[in-house]
Amino acid sequence: MKNLTMNNGLTFPVLGTGTNTFGKENNNFNGKITNDTKELRSAIELGYRLIDTAIYYRNEEVIGKAVKESNIDRCEFFITSKIPTDKEFIETDELVQKHVEQSLKAIDLDYIDLYLIHFPHESNEENLRVWRILETFVEKGLIKSIGVSNFKEDQLSYLIKHARIKPVLNQFQSYPGKHQQSLIDFCKANDIIPEAYQSLAKINDKTKNILVELANPYNKTWSQIVLNYQVSEGLVVIPKSHNKQHQLENIDIFDFELTKTDIETIKNI
Ligand SMILES: NC(=O)c1ccc[n+]([C@@H]2O[C@H](COP(=O)([O-])OP(=O)(O)OC[C@H]3O[C@@H](n4cnc5c(N)ncnc54)[C@H](OP(=O)(O)O)[C@@H]3O)[C@@H](O)[C@H]2O)c1
Repeated sequence: MKNLTMNNGLTFPVLGTGTNTFGKENNNFNGKITNDTKELRSAIELGYRLIDTAIYYRNEEVIGKAVKESNIDRCEFFITSKIPTDKEFIETDELVQKHVEQSLKAIDLDYIDLYLIHFPHESNEENLRVWRILETFVEKGLIKSIGVSNFKEDQLSYLIKHARIKPVLNQFQSYPGKHQQSLIDFCKANDIIPEAYQSLAKINDKTKNILVELANPYNKTWSQIVLNYQVSEGLVVIPKSHNKQHQLENIDIFDFELTKTDIETIKNI
């Protein structure tokens, strides 16, 4: 597994697993929580150590449970969670505080490696107010790093200008067909790691056909081509699968290098 170093000096894996439907009935985002850890245990057995969850996913407890069941040292893992910016979560400082504390309690692994603001609030001042509370959790050692998700350039700029602790990462939707190249470039220029979500889920059939053609000479699958491309471009990836074979495929992307021509082809999709 390759690692990246964040602007605060801490390192973490470039590839992890999404979990937004894990531990739920019928693999459904809105499904009842089953507390079943089988998908995550399978991912951990295959070598996944970065795990992406969120308050919205309602499965933070399932994540903590799977990590404990693995009997692997907690420090080997890198757990990300996120706080939403809906009123019910952030209207007052006390509410923000309460929800972060609830995340820590639900995951129950002493600390959270990375905590993100899940979506930007329309007001930059509100984002900053939430951020300042996250900063206090970093000072207490309960959260190691803080970042954002779905932030655009102007929202990031405001935060960078006013924050005491710079965001380490921005997680946003990125896949062939919607790379969000200018946002990727902005993050890199500001020493903020771009992390892609939905690398695979949103790719249409036409694009998939192009990717399959590109993948054949490497003896790889279209999904491996996408993830290899994103990692080679400096993005962190968090593909999610309920299927063990897919989980295996998605982590087996470090043994080949795309040609410059293929990289350009993907970039131009
Ligand atoms: N910050 C945000 O706002 C935000 C928003 C959305 C998601 N996320 C995070 O990002 C993670 C990833 O996003 P996602 O789960 O929506 O989408 P994704 O990981 O891009 O794709 C998941 C879909 O792709 C399929 N898949 C996975 N590997 C495959 C493979 N090797 N070959 C063929 N199909 C494959 C899965 O089906 P199978 O299960 O059948 O393999 C599933 O239907 C989420 O789980 C969540 O943690 C964050």
